[in-house]
Amino acid sequence: MRKKVSVIGAGNVGATTVQFVVQSGIADAVLFDVVDGLPQGKALDLAEACPLWNSPSTIIGTQDYSDTKDSDIIVITAGLARKPGMSRNDLLLANANIVKEVCIEIAKMSPNAIAIVVTNPMDVMAQLAWKTTEFSCKRVMGMGGILDASRLRTFLSRELHVSPEDIEALVLGGHGDDMVPLSRFMTVKGIQMTELLPKKKIDALIERTRNGGAEIVSLLKSGSAYYAPAAAIFQMIKSILLDEKRLFPCAAYLNGEYGIKDTYMGVPVILGKEGVERIVEIKLTKEEKAQFRKSCTSVRKLIKKFSI
Ligand code: NAI
Repeated sequence: MRKKVSVIGAGNVGATTVQFVVQSGIADAVLFDVVDGLPQGKALDLAEACPLWNSPSTIIGTQDYSDTKDSDIIVITAGLARKPGMSRNDLLLANANIVKEVCIEIAKMSPNAIAIVVTNPMDVMAQLAWKTTEFSCKRVMGMGGILDASRLRTFLSRELHVSPEDIEALVLGGHGDDMVPLSRFMTVKGIQMTELLPKKKIDALIERTRNGGAEIVSLLKSGSAYYAPAAAIFQMIKSILLDEKRLFPCAAYLNGEYGIKDTYMGVPVILGKEGVERIVEIKLTKEEKAQFRKSCTSVRKLIKKFSI
């Protein structure tokens, strides 16, 4: 039986995610949005590309949640995106109402699905999605660190003139301005970055990564990044659907891991057919621990606003 991925929110990130899914042919897709005609138009356009991609995927564009019934994966991208000068946290109230409404519906239609939360502020929305769906925490996760790490790999690759696929980077913590990129895990095919670049340069690229989302927002002037976010979501979908058990930094529910309780935070996880199959705990240095805790405090502050 073919797998089914439903994406809620047919905006830039949602529609591009569906594009990657159907282009690969690994699943059928449903694109849902509240705006009349938008998901239908994009779905039809994508369906008409499938013959050219030699893809067997089918796509439905809809305003009706019953079309999402029995999805294997639900991706939540519904909500507002940042405008220039806005932080992810500025989206909190509006997006919390949207994500809650979405989660009530998806839990009814697809009680066994795995949910990937993208809407910002993502860590808080992941916590809200977990509470609202009442799914096991293994089946609710957020996309953030995988994108931040990809941005950092891009910047390092350009600096070193080395293919980005040979560059590894790990970014933990909340998907916000105080994310925690771990410089000691940055390598080029296992060679420590400090062997190849001066610390000052590495620090500058880390800083650029922190502002990576805002950099694109200010260039686009309307809307925020979506190609790299959708590519990151697709990697997560693929690892789950094909049970690849890849290690990615994702927002996962921490209940004691990394010394944090009852909070969604970005940590390395193994993604497979069960969802978050394992949280990989690494020993952080004193300085990294302090940064991780600071990032956690920011997320917790927002969570408390809703008593989630
Ligand atoms: P967008 O504005 O292009 O699309 C959002 C879509 O959500 C719109 O089509 C809108 O009609 C729809 N929507 C609004 N309320 C809805 C509801 N109740 N039910 C269903 N759909 C609804 O925004 P974009 O660029 O696609 O971004 C989506 C979200 O993802 C934003 O919150 C953005 O900040 C976040 N984001 C998160 C990233 C991450 O790394 N976690 C990366 C990029 C974006």
